[in-house]
Amino acid sequence: MERLDVVEVMLTAEAYNENPELDEDDLPPRFRKAAWNGERKIERPLTVTEDFVEEVHGEEGAWEAIEELPFTDRDTLDGTLRFTVTDLARDWYRDQADADRVSLNPALAYEFGDDFDVSYDEVVAENRPKEADAEWVHSLVEEILGEGEDAEEMLELVEIYAPAEIEQGLDDIVLTDEQEKEVEKVMKAIEHRDYLREVGLSEIGKLLFVGPPGTGKTSTAKALSGRLELPFIEVKLSMITSQYLGETAKNVDKVFELAKMLSPCILFIDEFDSIAKTRDSDEHAALKRTVNTLLKSIDDISLVRDSVLLIGATNHPKMLDYAAWRRFDEIVEFPAPDEEMRAQILRIITHDVEIEDFDADELASETEGLTGSDLRLVLREAVLDALTNDRTKLTHDDLVRAVENFEKRKNLKELDMMEESSPINGGGHDHDHSAGTHQH
Ligand SMILES: Nc1ncnc2c1ncn2[C@@H]1O[C@H](COP(=O)(O)OP(=O)(O)OP(=O)(O)O)[C@@H](O)[C@H]1O
Ligand SMILES: [Mg+2]
Repeated sequence: MERLDVVEVMLTAEAYNENPELDEDDLPPRFRKAAWNGERKIERPLTVTEDFVEEVHGEEGAWEAIEELPFTDRDTLDGTLRFTVTDLARDWYRDQADADRVSLNPALAYEFGDDFDVSYDEVVAENRPKEADAEWVHSLVEEILGEGEDAEEMLELVEIYAPAEIEQGLDDIVLTDEQEKEVEKVMKAIEHRDYLREVGLSEIGKLLFVGPPGTGKTSTAKALSGRLELPFIEVKLSMITSQYLGETAKNVDKVFELAKMLSPCILFIDEFDSIAKTRDSDEHAALKRTVNTLLKSIDDISLVRDSVLLIGATNHPKMLDYAAWRRFDEIVEFPAPDEEMRAQILRIITHDVEIEDFDADELASETEGLTGSDLRLVLREAVLDALTNDRTKLTHDDLVRAVENFEKRKNLKELDMMEESSPINGGGHDHDHSAGTHQH
C-alpha cells in the first residue's frame, strides 16, 4: 500500500471529525463503504484503524506503509492509527499530493482545495451521493421494516436495488437517437429540479416506455438508476393486482408511499397495462376504484416535489386508456432493433466471448425481427452448445446455427398458440419472458 493512500484516509477522517458542516456526501464511496455501520449516519469521531484503511483500499499493510513517517503512531492494542503532530501530516500531504487526488475526495478538497487550486463545490458535485450506496439503501429499507407489519407487507410488493448494485450501464444498451435524447432530457430535468420548481413545472418527470418484450425497457430504466445514482424500486403491477381487488388499491398506495420514503429514487412500474387497460373493458366497481387510485397516485407524485422519477413500461400500448396515457409527460418508444442496432447489440453482448471469423454485420442481416433479448438467448445457446463439445472458443457458424434453432423454436411456439383456440383470457399479462417471442 502507498503511504500517501494511508495518510489520505487518516486526513479524510480528521477533516470529517473537525468540520461538523461536512456530511456523508463529503466522503468518497470507498471510504463510506468501510465506514457504514448498519445506520444511515456515519458517526463522529471516526477512528481510523489498520483494518479500516485496508478495507478502504482493499490491500494489506497499512501500518508498514507509514511507520517510517515522523508524525504517525499506532496503538498496538486496537490498531488505531493517529498523527502525533497533525500539522506535520498536513504539510507533508501538501507537499506529496496533487490536484487529481484531491479532486476525488470532497473532505480533502474542503481542507486543501486552495493549496491545489481545486474547487470544493465541484468535487462534491462529482462525488457519488450517499443514496447510491448499497449500504445506505439497505439500511433505509431496514429502518422502514422496523416500523412494523405494514411496512413489511409494503416491501414484499417491490424489488429494491441500490445504484451501486446495478451492473448493466447505459453504455451497454443500444439506444435509438430518440431514446438517447429522452435519456438526456431526464438527466437535465433531474439536475435542474430546483429551477423547474421555481418556474412551476412540477408535473415533469413521468416516462412511459412502450415496446415489445425484450427490447430493453427494464434494462434502460435500471441503467438510468445507475447513471443518475438513484435507488431503483421495481414493481410488477400484475403482482400487486393478483390479490383481492380491495387489497390492490391499498397496495398501489403502499408502493407510492414507499417510493416517497426512499426518495430520491426511481419508481419503475412494469406491466403498466395490466391494470390501466381494464377501465373500459370491465364493469367491476372495485377494479375501477383500483385504477382510479393508481391514476391519483400518479398525479400525486412528482419528480420536482418528491424527487421520485416515475417510469412505466408496457408491451400493450393500445390497452392503455387516454386517462392513463396523458399522465406521462414523455412516451419513449422501444422498437424491435433494426439491422444496424442488432449489429451493435451483437458486438456488445459478444464482447467477452472468443468467436472465430465473427461478423456482426452479417449476423445482424440474418436476424430480422429478433430483439436484444432474443440475441442474448441465441448467444447463450451457442455458448452452451460449444461447451457440450468441450469448446470455449466459438465460431461464426455456431452462432448462425443457434439463430436457425431459435427461429425453429419460435415458429413452433407460434404454431402452438394458433392451434390452441385461445380463449380471451382476462389476465393478459401472462406472456412468457424467457421465450422472448413477440406478441401479436
Ligand atoms: N437495445 C438493447 N441493447 C442491448 N441489450 C438489449 C437491448 N434490448 C434488450 N437487450 C437485452 O435483452 C435483455 C432483456 O431486456 P429487458 O428485460 O430490458 O427487456 P424489456 O423491454 O424490459 O422486456 P419485457 O417487456 O419482456 O419486460 C437484457 O439482458 C438486455 O440487456
Ligand atoms: Mg421488462
